[in-house]
Amino acid sequence: MNPCLTGLTCFACAAPHDPRVLQTVCTRCGMPLRVDYDLRPFKPSGPPTLWRYAPVLPIEPEQAVTLHEGFTPLLQAGERLFIKDEARNPTGSFKARGMSLAVSMAKALGARALVAPSAGNAAGALAAYGAAAGLPVTVALPDDTPRAFIEECRHYGAEVHLVPGSIADAGKWLKANGPRDAFDVSTLKEPYRVEGKKTMAYEIFEQLDRSLPDAIIYPTGGGTGLVGMWKAFGEMERLGWIGPERPRLVSVQAEGCAPVVKGFAARAEKTEPWPSPRTEAYGLRVPSPIGGFICLTSLRETHGTALAVAEAEIAPAAQELARRTGIDVCPEGGAAWAATKQLYASGWLKPADRVVLFNTGTGLKYR
Ligand SMILES: Cc1ncc(COP(=O)(O)O)c(C=O)c1O
Ligand SMILES: [Zn+2]
Repeated sequence: MNPCLTGLTCFACAAPHDPRVLQTVCTRCGMPLRVDYDLRPFKPSGPPTLWRYAPVLPIEPEQAVTLHEGFTPLLQAGERLFIKDEARNPTGSFKARGMSLAVSMAKALGARALVAPSAGNAAGALAAYGAAAGLPVTVALPDDTPRAFIEECRHYGAEVHLVPGSIADAGKWLKANGPRDAFDVSTLKEPYRVEGKKTMAYEIFEQLDRSLPDAIIYPTGGGTGLVGMWKAFGEMERLGWIGPERPRLVSVQAEGCAPVVKGFAARAEKTEPWPSPRTEAYGLRVPSPIGGFICLTSLRETHGTALAVAEAEIAPAAQELARRTGIDVCPEGGAAWAATKQLYASGWLKPADRVVLFNTGTGLKYR
């Protein structure tokens, strides 16, 4: 483990937890745990992967379960518009980042098997990293998940269960029926996937010549990426890399499942479960994110916003952006593009703003 890792602290109640053993959520209140470091000055170095930020990661690269994830290109799509193309990761999505860290830590701390419910991409990533770690994987997916996601998991040797409903139902199914001895790497139900996702912010900073954009447009499901980047900005400030200024974070959801958008509009402290979640941007179909309250804090603190796009706009927006850029845009990336256009039209984004939009995964698996 990284000797600078000082502890785990509950995001909600601040209860401390021991990082030398496998932890899930806070033993006092059931909320997610944050990873804390004694931050030392460093210069990113090493391979073009997320492991170039090893001083702010929980485990040394030598111990890591890695498939060369991260350091995805930041492509210019307009004079001041950039697309962070996460489709270039192993298994074709940004889920590779989180799973590399979660599986590395779980293995190092003695896990013998891994499970997770997933909207699709997380399952594929877990299946691949489990294979790389030599650990058996069981995943549960909604039964309407496109075939490519399911076949991908089986290709890597994972056991796949299809469950009616959303990722929330898949999670409940696993709790009741999943293997007893397996470690659960569900979004924000263990501390380390966020550590993988936060490297997206470190990369943007490095790729924009040690500066941050004015706004970051992020399609939000469980919210690991939002939480991770917000955490990374705090670390960068403590490292002396930036001041108190922050990129405005924008959470994009689909109208058929928008708990973060609803909570933000209501100025609520936490999100409420979304009844009958529906969207074909499957990664956004997360009706009750456990980290919803942290997403809301990240949006408020950065003076960001949250908006839902109409289902009918998502696929055409993905196609439009793909045709305009040559990037393999997934529906979630399409939602982010539809939202970006709305924000320019409303004046919330100004032509002078430097904007980073996330294409969180490949579009190929949805067909
Ligand atoms: C392609 C894609 N985009 C976005 C998301 C949402 O990610 P997060 O949990 O970081 O909000 C997912 C999650 O499944 C996804 O697969
Ligand atoms: Zn707590």
